[in-house]
Amino acid sequence: MNKKRVLVTGGAGFVGSHLVDALLHQGHTVRVYDNLTPQVHSDGLPGYFAQGVEFVEGDMRNPERVREAVRNIDVVFHLAAAVGVGQSMYEISHYMGANTQGTANLLQALLDTRCRVEKLIVASSMSIYGEGKYVCEACGEMAPPPRPLSQLKQKSWEALCPLCGSALKPVPTDESKPLQCTSIYALSKKDQEEMTLLFGRTYEVPVVALRYFNIYGSRQALSNPYTGVAAIFASRLINGNPPLVFEDGQQRRDFVSVQDVVAANLLAMERPQADGMALNIGSGQPITIQGVAEELAKALGTEVPAQITGKYRAGDIRHCFADISAAEKVLGYRPKVRFGEGIQELVQWLGSQKAVDRSAEAVERLTLYGLAA
Ligand code: UD1
Repeated sequence: MNKKRVLVTGGAGFVGSHLVDALLHQGHTVRVYDNLTPQVHSDGLPGYFAQGVEFVEGDMRNPERVREAVRNIDVVFHLAAAVGVGQSMYEISHYMGANTQGTANLLQALLDTRCRVEKLIVASSMSIYGEGKYVCEACGEMAPPPRPLSQLKQKSWEALCPLCGSALKPVPTDESKPLQCTSIYALSKKDQEEMTLLFGRTYEVPVVALRYFNIYGSRQALSNPYTGVAAIFASRLINGNPPLVFEDGQQRRDFVSVQDVVAANLLAMERPQADGMALNIGSGQPITIQGVAEELAKALGTEVPAQITGKYRAGDIRHCFADISAAEKVLGYRPKVRFGEGIQELVQWLGSQKAVDRSAEAVERLTLYGLAA
């Protein structure tokens, strides 16, 4: 492939920085645009940030600065975003500003500067599905609405068939599942995805939206208590504390290694087949949250058992795991990292870090807003 001039927004972050390394490895020229948000980067530019990258410090909410960042660029990976489902429920205007308005600023900048990019790849999220896809034995395929608060208060966790009320069986979620956002974060991700795809159709710019499932791996920000559950549990175990498991721990997710996510991004850049599409990027392998806690304890060699709290978080879904057949077909995407191996990378990284455990603080904050009970 020809060498490109690539812009990675959010390139100092967890996924972005791994992508930057892979792009440099392929010989591309990379510019990173990142605001080094203190919640993630309490010590400024992270130690892992690659040499030989042009770094532009700036916020997606600053249109002038974004205009400078897109100058003379061939390919854009848009990864900059505020990421925290729980936090988004009480910092509504911050999330919509950084994610929705931030993406609007990027597209406006591309238009205003007549920057005709060859490809724009946007980080979307499984959160936009809300509940995953289910099957009711009596009624067939279902896309159930969020579980009502009254049900969660009774600690009845499984999603129920909206037609006959019986318990539903979760099945892999494909891209045709109706989108039913259950958090402000999800809504802002849906905006990002739809806005970029619409822009691509209108101005004939090849755009690909990648709907990530639960990404884990090295460089996941431990200082951020709203980071994914794998890093939160690992920090607690390292500090000798039991992972605090919401509901009954039997909720299922799809954990995908950051290495596989990077591979998907490179494929989306190189191949035209996915242009104009939104694709699931997961491992295709479901795992329960209790299973995650157990695998992590095993990898860390600790006996501390998880604490099943029976609490719930507002906006949480019960099950969602990916059907990745579309990405396999159009991109040739094949996840390579199994969870058991991938967490070794996470655990090694955690060993080199100050594993500050701020998860109790985060739960307290959510409780204060009535978002966890
Ligand atoms: C959400 C988003 C996803 C985003 C991810 C990380 C949805 C549907 N998905 O995923 O797009 O990438 O956050 O920001 O909104 N849990 C515990 N104990 C904890 C923390 C979490 O038991 O201390 C449980 C949660 O209740 C949930 C599961 O672990 O059932 C996964 O939580 P989390 O890692 O926050 O990710 P999701 O909510 O799946």
